[in-house]
Amino acid sequence: MRAVVHDRYGPPDVLRLEEVERPVPKDDEVLVKIHATTVNRTDCGFRAAKPFIIRFFTGLRRPKWRIPGSEFAGEVEAVGAAVSEFAVGDRVFGANVGRFGAHAEFVCVRETAPLAKMPSDVTFEEAAAVCDGAILALNCLRLADIRSGQRLLVYGASGSIGTAAVQLGKHLGADVTAVCNTKNLELVRSLGADPVIDYLQEDFTKSGERYDVIFDAAGKTSFAHCRRSLVKGGIYLPTDGWWNLMLALLARRIRIGDKRVLMAIPPRYGKADVLLLKRLLEAGSYRAVIDRSYPLEQVVEASRYVETGQKTGNVVLTVNGGRAR
Ligand SMILES: NC(=O)c1ccc[n+]([C@@H]2O[C@H](COP(=O)([O-])OP(=O)(O)OC[C@H]3O[C@@H](n4cnc5c(N)ncnc54)[C@H](OP(=O)(O)O)[C@@H]3O)[C@@H](O)[C@H]2O)c1
Repeated sequence: MRAVVHDRYGPPDVLRLEEVERPVPKDDEVLVKIHATTVNRTDCGFRAAKPFIIRFFTGLRRPKWRIPGSEFAGEVEAVGAAVSEFAVGDRVFGANVGRFGAHAEFVCVRETAPLAKMPSDVTFEEAAAVCDGAILALNCLRLADIRSGQRLLVYGASGSIGTAAVQLGKHLGADVTAVCNTKNLELVRSLGADPVIDYLQEDFTKSGERYDVIFDAAGKTSFAHCRRSLVKGGIYLPTDGWWNLMLALLARRIRIGDKRVLMAIPPRYGKADVLLLKRLLEAGSYRAVIDRSYPLEQVVEASRYVETGQKTGNVVLTVNGGRAR
């Protein structure tokens, strides 16, 4: 089969397409014929081994897993002897977390992994882009115990995690205010945020409004900047940054004033999350925002684009031309 491989850490150019052996499913695995996958910030971090600490999990000198990619959507091609939930021909989507291998024509995934049958009216491209941003957003929103009636501000609401956080915040009953660039105002409004603030025109911290939770979904603001916009007992939820990690670890032991920094590290991906997302897709209350689609062969270009930090939602890779419904 054709797969994207890399034998060293580095910039997008370390990726190349190669003919490799098709994987064979173990007893508890399904073999998925992939129609679409994504390039996300997690993939780029693992490929570049940035931050350096990633190497302790993925190989100190070179990547232990040659084929990158975690999110995917496709069809079950074969099942292991002990698999009962899936059958050959099922259309499935999910994330092969910690095992990678989705930037390829086929991938083996454990039946118990975050894997579910696809809703019938969703394309492979759409389904492939559902899991990563949404599950990362869910990790953060759950940590802050987002509840009905709370005031949630999502900063950087146009990215993969941001577009998911707006929709999932609404699903959990919060009043969602979002902050993004002028060009994404309409999109973010269409996801359910109200009001939507243009960060090029206005600094939300100057408005005098207070929020129960400020979710920095793009890694572009700071606790110091947001503190005064949090209510007493309010929570700042970062997605990135050593300093934030330090503050979050510190906050587990001592109280820093009357506000807290909480960070979902390491994030957990579970089957229940994918099943929740499937229900939301079916109910029409969630959609994956797709910025661009590239064929698998253009993985280097796709990765370069993701690394600009300016994609809107998600970047999809189609495999074998992808396929509609
Ligand atoms: N904790 C984890 O396990 C984990 C995993 C993956 C990613 N991350 C981190 O989470 C963050 C978000 O990831 P992602 O995949 O959602 O990112 P992404 O999709 O690449 O986010 C890009 C979005 O951020 C917006 N943006 C850029 N600069 C901004 C600014 N100054 N103010 C507001 N918005 C801005 C961009 O729009 P404009 O440029 O048009 O404004 C773009 O729509 C990243 O920092 C990433 O490293 C964390």
